[in-house]
Amino acid sequence: MKKIIVIPGDGIGQEITKSAVEVLKKVDEKFNIGLEFETRDAGGTSYEKFGTPLTDEALDACKKADGVLFGAVGGKKWDSLPVHLRPEKAIFGLRKGLGLFANLRPTKVYPELINSSPLKPELVGGSDLLIVRELVGGIYFGKRCESEINAQGDEQAWDTEIYSVPEIERITKLAFETAKLRRGKVTSVDKANVLAASRLWRKVVVDVAKDFPEVELNHLYVDNAAMQLVLNPKQFDVIVTNNIFGDILSDEAAVIGGSIGLMPSASIGELTSLYEPIHGSAPDIAGKDIANPMGTILSAAMLLRYSLKEEAAAQTIEAAIDKTLADGWRTADIFTEGFKKIGTAQATEIICKNL
Ligand code: IPM
Ligand code: MG
Repeated sequence: MKKIIVIPGDGIGQEITKSAVEVLKKVDEKFNIGLEFETRDAGGTSYEKFGTPLTDEALDACKKADGVLFGAVGGKKWDSLPVHLRPEKAIFGLRKGLGLFANLRPTKVYPELINSSPLKPELVGGSDLLIVRELVGGIYFGKRCESEINAQGDEQAWDTEIYSVPEIERITKLAFETAKLRRGKVTSVDKANVLAASRLWRKVVVDVAKDFPEVELNHLYVDNAAMQLVLNPKQFDVIVTNNIFGDILSDEAAVIGGSIGLMPSASIGELTSLYEPIHGSAPDIAGKDIANPMGTILSAAMLLRYSLKEEAAAQTIEAAIDKTLADGWRTADIFTEGFKKIGTAQATEIICKNL
């Protein structure tokens, strides 16, 4: 049996993970993978039940799982809680606790949705890139100070961008190995003209690259990379970058394809890996059967691909989504005149039928 821990989380997380589990069960019937599901809470939902955004029990269950399927966390209701009780804390607890060091965020441009892209169709058509973001280091986890009084008597706060050689090596190797299976190009993004941690980053990337002579490597400063993403996204295959630059660039890259609702992600770890859509918990539309479940369903496909090595099953899901879009079915977030509007449940039903 393959155990999958499902963490619906908050807001639309509940509906979209339910859809993805339905699809996974259907796929399991076809491919006999032997999937077994267990649910755990995280985020605001966990705080309401247990007084903490992530329990040790939930984290332990994830550690023992073959894969974790995650919805989304967060909501206005919990925004005023102290930092250590906020829903986002669950995300960091899972990332650190499971050692999820690499976040893979692919951007695919669906021909059917190309007109929803904010960029000109001729610019985005055919672009296919993957951001490999370092996820458990850098300024997100460096030493910080929320408030102190400086020598001038003014209040100040600070964070630290810090990377060790092994941390950079680990993420870089994964990026190069991934590029080998794609178009063989890695773009490393840093701010080596200003930051010491970026200069070390670049040095280590150059060293690691020596073991991958078949992969082409170039370097961009993050400001230029942000510009190049909208000027000419087709130049990119794999982008490898640190935690904060990856956070920013992956949101930018996610909309190139036309809808953030369709973008999956994989967070690869030492103990297990976690799969979640890029979008958030969207509390304003939660429980209304209008959320797009496709990002989560495509995340489930990544789980099959990377954690369970079930490539054929993963492709079956991706093809079912392609067909659903090609047949003109659209959830509200990607709906335009002339197409057929559907809700979460109906989209799930159609995708299951298309498997
Ligand atoms: C993401 C999100 C998180 C991050 C937030 C919710 C803490 O933006 O997964 O990209 O910054 O990593
Ligand atoms: Mg982000």
